[in-house]
Amino acid sequence: MSQFDYIKEIAKYGLENDQERLLSVLNQLVEYSKKTKKVNFAIQLQSILKESIRQQSANNLTKVGSDSYFQRIDDRDIQELILEKITSDYSLENIVAEDKVMNNLKHFIEEHERIELLQRFNLPVSNKLLLHGPSGCGKTLASYVIAGELKKMMVVVNLGAIVSSKLGETSKNLSKIFKKASLEDCIIFIDEFDSLGKVRDYSQDHGEMKRVVNTILQLFDYLPQSSIVIAATNQKDMLDTALTRRFDSIIEFSLPTISQIKNLVELTLNKSGFVFSNKKEASKVMTQCVGLSYYSIQKTLLTALKRSLFQQSDDNVKNITKINSHIWKNLVISEKKSLEVTSPN
Ligand SMILES: Nc1ncnc2c1ncn2[C@@H]1O[C@H](COP(=O)(O)OP(=O)(O)OP(=O)(O)O)[C@@H](O)[C@H]1O
Ligand SMILES: [Mg+2]
Repeated sequence: MSQFDYIKEIAKYGLENDQERLLSVLNQLVEYSKKTKKVNFAIQLQSILKESIRQQSANNLTKVGSDSYFQRIDDRDIQELILEKITSDYSLENIVAEDKVMNNLKHFIEEHERIELLQRFNLPVSNKLLLHGPSGCGKTLASYVIAGELKKMMVVVNLGAIVSSKLGETSKNLSKIFKKASLEDCIIFIDEFDSLGKVRDYSQDHGEMKRVVNTILQLFDYLPQSSIVIAATNQKDMLDTALTRRFDSIIEFSLPTISQIKNLVELTLNKSGFVFSNKKEASKVMTQCVGLSYYSIQKTLLTALKRSLFQQSDDNVKNITKINSHIWKNLVISEKKSLEVTSPN
């Protein structure tokens, strides 16, 4: 079933007041959203369902059967929702960054590759890493690179989703995640780390938020040396200094310079067999890319590549295919316009 089919069924059973079928479809939609990686949506929907049953049982309006959907929601379900466990085959070769960033990443990885040596000399191991900088500049990618280089599983935690779905359970869930990850020797990747600051804006319960921050501080302080926590944010300023102080290493990602743009283009086209129709023009477009993120540049390049491919008749598609530099130029211009990026001088 597609998302639209679920919506049709929800409308039908909702209007027919068929509570049982409605709940069953909503349940299926939660599962479907989890599978299609719409984790935030799945969490929000599940939270709405839970809240509704809470109210219903409080009002004693509906009897919930023993096999009902709601009785099947337990901590395990919530954990499944908030955690995504992945293995990564990314390596340092898959990321472009300034030397300082690359060196910091390499040093962090080395500490864990050679952890026994450090421990033999009783030296502390850096295991709490904060990645910050603008969107689309490689923070999430860097966490995959670290997991890939160290050949460790990574547990991805979307803090924004946990915090907004059930503030009251955040501390409990976080403790569980940390425990599980350290037992299973996984890296914990906490995305949207700034939600810890942001949540103050819409939560009435400041006390609860303080508890969440304190839980994180404690979990960080008692983190076993071999465990790794990586947090990412594009709003470092939103974070409490008590939190930022806990990190052993803080890496700032920036928009690419012209030389990094060239490397990104090379990396993206590497192995694809594609070359530019007009190298001079392509070089000019790379200059025009300054101000855009790695993500935007890669996106426009891949779109240009596909459109160029479609422009050629099937008979003409050879092993080496040309990217129409002009198409790329126009895509870059419209990307900058839509993101309101002004050209540097
Ligand atoms: N430094 C980089 N080197 C190579 N590719 C990059 C780099 N940064 C981004 N990309 C490309 O853009 C994609 C998105 O980047 P990523 O998810 O790492 O951004 P982010 O910094 O986590 O952004 P956000 O703050 O929005 O989460 C990557 O999967 C990769 O294809
Ligand atoms: Mg990211």
